[in-house]
Amino acid sequence: MMFQRTPMIAGNWKMNLRHSEATALIKTIRQGIEGLEGVEVLVAPPFTHLAVAREAIGDAPIFLAGQNMHWEMSGAFTGEISGRMLQGATCTHVILGHSERRTLFNETNETVDLKVRSATFLGLIPIVCVGETLEEREAGNTFDVLKTQLDGSLRNFKADQLMRPSTILAYEPVWAIGTGRTATPEQAQEVHRFIREWIETTFNTGTAAQVRILYGGSVKPENISDLMAQPDIDGALVGGASLKGDSFVQIIRYKGH
Ligand code: PGA
Repeated sequence: MMFQRTPMIAGNWKMNLRHSEATALIKTIRQGIEGLEGVEVLVAPPFTHLAVAREAIGDAPIFLAGQNMHWEMSGAFTGEISGRMLQGATCTHVILGHSERRTLFNETNETVDLKVRSATFLGLIPIVCVGETLEEREAGNTFDVLKTQLDGSLRNFKADQLMRPSTILAYEPVWAIGTGRTATPEQAQEVHRFIREWIETTFNTGTAAQVRILYGGSVKPENISDLMAQPDIDGALVGGASLKGDSFVQIIRYKGH
């Protein structure tokens, strides 16, 4: 029997929006998802907007996530935020290892692994991002790169031979992020399948059947249904199109009702 994974549509706001815009956006999302079932919705605002976002969310079924965190619980780490602080701000999830963190802020598989371990220890659900660059894809190295990222970013899970089934992975081909260039549904499916097989080989079939793998990179209302029709695509991590209420709601309502 096939395991039914609940789809998730996650909005990564990156470094965008004023407080007033965040409140308005969440209001639109709240109205747009009224009565909707069977899809999890998440937003990841900048740290300074978490309180405002929580206030706007109220008790609506919208998960709140951080976009990053430090692996230590507290200490002399100027400019950093701990997982505990995210929980204090009512976050249930945290995005880790986003390609912008990896390329612009020198994040490595090693630091992502420390963060994944810390988040999991605290009970925060990590959304761990992996993805190849255009050069890596064109050189035919996509799967090697992904394997290295998965092995490295989830090293502690591997060592424990345990990956919590609630863990979420996100495949975000770097060449498709913010470029308007989406991977074709078939290209994405091929990689999602590879990632699920990696989970199966590294852990077990049950975990592989339960872990959700989101696709990210220029997801829009126009391409979401074709992506979601692929058997191993369990949701989307949306950047640009998550900043506008109407387009984000259309993506969330990809099933058309
Ligand atoms: P994009 O960003 O949807 O603007 O391409 C996706 C992401 O970086 O998570």
